[in-house]
Amino acid sequence: MADLAATAAAMVRPGKGILAADESVSTMSARLERAGVAPTEENRRAYREMLVTTPGLAGGVSGVILCDETFRQRVTGAATFPQALAARGILPGIKVDTGARPLAGRPGETVTEGLDGLRERLAEYARLGAAFAKWRAVLRIGAGRPSPQALRANAHALARYAGACHEAGLVPIVEPEVLMDGSHSLRECAEATERALRAVFAELAEFEIGLDAVVLKPNMVVPGGDSGQVAAPDEVAGATLATLRAAVPEAVAGIAFLSGGQGAAQATANLAAICARPAPWPLTFSFGRALVDPALAAWRGEAARLADGQRALAHRVARNAAALAA
Ligand code: G3H
Repeated sequence: MADLAATAAAMVRPGKGILAADESVSTMSARLERAGVAPTEENRRAYREMLVTTPGLAGGVSGVILCDETFRQRVTGAATFPQALAARGILPGIKVDTGARPLAGRPGETVTEGLDGLRERLAEYARLGAAFAKWRAVLRIGAGRPSPQALRANAHALARYAGACHEAGLVPIVEPEVLMDGSHSLRECAEATERALRAVFAELAEFEIGLDAVVLKPNMVVPGGDSGQVAAPDEVAGATLATLRAAVPEAVAGIAFLSGGQGAAQATANLAAICARPAPWPLTFSFGRALVDPALAAWRGEAARLADGQRALAHRVARNAAALAA
């Protein structure tokens, strides 16, 4: 466990965050199509190669989360993606859940699946060079939601996943995401997030998971995307840290926020406001869209625009790394 705690500490070390480039094949294909790029296996590979070979990426990124397809692909020059990341001093991570599926008896709610065969898959990913893993639970705010059943089912799966990761020598990123989708208020987001985090840490305690080798990946506390409300970064920071303090044990190795569909600049401003306040854990980012959307738009699948895509990613990484020191 000492090695795992050291890896977890390295993931959230000062001035660095985690790049989430682990979109599933279907999600990545849809994003490529929206950007006018044919959704082929080779274009998904080329896009991820553009991201991970960005000059200076290791200056602001401690780890990159990949999906199974990318983990087995090669960058130009023959190294696998995990090998290419390790050669750059970046920890390779792997998304291991198999997605959110409808939860029986709870219309509109999901439970994230992927526990079947997980032990064997984790052992293989560790052999292939993974240092850490990610599992994302998805929770929705609405009438009666998230339900106690959805909270418990997802928290239970996260705890079993975390235990399996430790057994395989991987640091688990534990991600209970309360979605921004909906017309809820900031207060309702705070309440749902606190319930979700309490459920997760109750299950992690039940399974005796060593929290010094766990990185938590929560949503920021923000009003719903359809609420018509915009919260100032300072309000987001206050609500987010109050919620985390109420539910997250101090023993957790670190907290890496997801961006959750916030615009890139908004996510950075909120991150800076959060990091400007005192907290008992290392705080950082583990953004997907807020880091890569500008890079995809600049690259557009054209080899001649590769440097534009990389500059766009480097810019967002630099802005978010700077936000950590705010
Ligand atoms: O699981 C979600 C991703 O790792 C983070 O993505 O920052 O676009 O919400 P996001």
